Amino acid sequence: MTVSTLPGHPFIAYQDGALCVEQVRLSDLAQTHGTPLFVYSKAAMLSALAAYQRGFAGRQAQICYAMKANSSLAVLQVFAQAGCGFDIVSAGELARVLAAGGDPAKVIFSGVGKTRAEMQQALQVGIGCFNVESTAELDVLSQVATAMGRTAPVSLRVNPNVDPKTHPYISTGLKGNKFGVAHEDTVRIYQHAASLPGLKVVGIDCHIGSQITEVTPYLDAMDRVLDLVTEIEAAGVPIHHIDFGGGLGINYNGDTPPEADALWAQLLAKLDARGFGDRQLMIEPGRSLVGNAGVCLSEVLYLKPGEQKNFCIIDAAMNDLPRPAMYQAFHHITPLQVREGAGTLYDVVGPICESGDWIGRERTLNVQPGDVLAVLSAGAYCMSMSSNYNTRGRAAEVLVDGAQVHLIRQRESVFDTFQLEHLVG
Ligand code: LLP
Repeated sequence: MTVSTLPGHPFIAYQDGALCVEQVRLSDLAQTHGTPLFVYSKAAMLSALAAYQRGFAGRQAQICYAMKANSSLAVLQVFAQAGCGFDIVSAGELARVLAAGGDPAKVIFSGVGKTRAEMQQALQVGIGCFNVESTAELDVLSQVATAMGRTAPVSLRVNPNVDPKTHPYISTGLKGNKFGVAHEDTVRIYQHAASLPGLKVVGIDCHIGSQITEVTPYLDAMDRVLDLVTEIEAAGVPIHHIDFGGGLGINYNGDTPPEADALWAQLLAKLDARGFGDRQLMIEPGRSLVGNAGVCLSEVLYLKPGEQKNFCIIDAAMNDLPRPAMYQAFHHITPLQVREGAGTLYDVVGPICESGDWIGRERTLNVQPGDVLAVLSAGAYCMSMSSNYNTRGRAAEVLVDGAQVHLIRQRESVFDTFQLEHLVG
């Protein structure tokens, strides 16, 4: 058997010319489950997690999977069973963690706009920590906790003002964006937090952005955060854990982010050198755990030659794969079955009525209508950001585990998309 692996995708390979995830042929999955179809490799997720676990071996560290990247229940179950906690940003995500068997004590609740009802639900089930982003939120959380006779464990998200050198929409640690509290206000706000009756200060948190492919922004952010820990503790507020957020990038198109264990070797060296090596550590990785574990299968509907461009129209669209339309993001697109002969240059587009509905531009493909394509790196921020725009039901999802195939989400029917609506009268 000839096997050719795809760079950055160790569990996705052509085996005798047919694209496979682990031991399963993707064309069989497309035939059985239809398209568009998301397919995830369990081994790829666990291998990405293992890189972090190696990096933290011998340390007190909790990996909290940032489930916004992919919140499908079976994906959460894989990480819960592997010992992960979860970084959540809504009560909806909390409900998913519980439904998937996750441990609420290992949940941290991030986000700038938590409602009182969300705070109550999180306190009720005893989450591990609230990552608070403003003084106003501290005050409300203290009131909510006091009224319930509880104490809310809190950490403040600080804004280290470090440029993560990524797309502006996914850069979060610079002055001028809505996240975190300003570096210079941090000590004062910690003192305020420590004075409130319903709160117990347990940690400090930062997250500088997403799809980060360099080590330097992390090292810089760590320096800034450790400076603050020193100042906050000097002001009399002990900091139990330090949460360095998520953000590590993946290889979409020749990107070369460090491996998680290599990144953490450097970060831990700094932590040790500065005397903080014995602290409880937390991280919130999302994309790097699931991004390259998933592909989206889509059938070629039509080939449409044009005066300036040729279009390859497929049955997946911006409602399934929103990243190209939102961030001009690049995803590799490759056919499930390789055909002999030269390819043609196409823009690969979906059926949605917007010019922004493109999945890949200027791709050379040798395909015919009826062929199925795999859109790579589709494990993160695709299904979790999908919508019903143009009244398109959401795609189905499959988890592959060796030779086993689990349908983890059935295809949404058109009826499902409007069953909560009412006609008037
Ligand atoms: N922690 C916090 C507080 C976050 O806001 C995020 C992501 C993460 C952790 C996880 O970051 P990751 O390890 O996945 O980079 N939709 C965009 C990405 C948005 C990221 C939002 N926050 C995309 O498709 O590129």
